[in-house]
Amino acid sequence: MDNDQGSAGDTGGRDEILTAADVADGPIPAHVACVMDGNGRWAARRGLPRTEGHAAGEAALLDAVEGALELGIPWITMYAFSTENWRRPPDEVRYLMGFNESLLMRRRDELNDKGVRIRFAGRRDWRVPKRVLKRMDESIELTEGNRRCTLTMAFNYGGRAEIVDAVQALVSEGVKPDKVTEKAIRSHLYFPDQPDPDLVIRTSGEHRVSNFLLWQLAYSELVFDEVLWPDFRRTHLFAAVRDFQRRQRRYGGVT
Ligand code: IPE
Ligand code: IPE
Ligand code: MG
Repeated sequence: MDNDQGSAGDTGGRDEILTAADVADGPIPAHVACVMDGNGRWAARRGLPRTEGHAAGEAALLDAVEGALELGIPWITMYAFSTENWRRPPDEVRYLMGFNESLLMRRRDELNDKGVRIRFAGRRDWRVPKRVLKRMDESIELTEGNRRCTLTMAFNYGGRAEIVDAVQALVSEGVKPDKVTEKAIRSHLYFPDQPDPDLVIRTSGEHRVSNFLLWQLAYSELVFDEVLWPDFRRTHLFAAVRDFQRRQRRYGGVT
């Protein structure tokens, strides 16, 4: 493999490999959310089909989770498939559905052994194949007693869809207009028990949100990394946490 293009796990041009100890003394975010982007470009740079990039992203996902466990981060959310990703060529969509199904089959026991609770945020609509839903349900059931860390896979997830679903639920409950408060909307989001992300990491150098957690990231710290997702490793997570630790959060106030 051509080293100029970066081998799996490279540091995206940084020469420093960080460990958990490098950031363990500072504040650790309670919830880290990742937009796992750049799989297609990773594959294209190697002359491979886009699907190979998705396959290579599995190691990155697992290493990121390991890193989060090392730091004791209790909530992680990973954007795996958006409500807009149905616009991709049917072959790629089919691949992604099958890939997510097989990833759960291959990895759920390992995640369970590590004390990870798996959940899914997104719409369970007719486009998601039944067998994928079945694996999702099995993984939820298997891991529901775990509390070390909650890994939420955002799958067929859209931030606008989530807000629409919350408002529809309020309307169907007959909630009066003056009771439609921020608290009421929040309590009808997919996982009201989950704190808002403190830190959102997007890989691949894209500086946008792409319909991820629109409500929840009102005051999240955003970190953009040039690394393509398949090359992401825990050192990138630690670097993002270090960046986070240098930020001053004001929530509209003054310090
Ligand atoms: C992210 O990588 C994975 C999904 C959106 C499912 P991409 O497939 O978007 O990769 P790029 O952005 O085309 O490189
Ligand atoms: C966001 O990436 C969705 C996921 C990572 C699952 P996209 O690649 O779909 O986002 P855009 O289209 O570049 O905004
Ligand atoms: Mg992309």
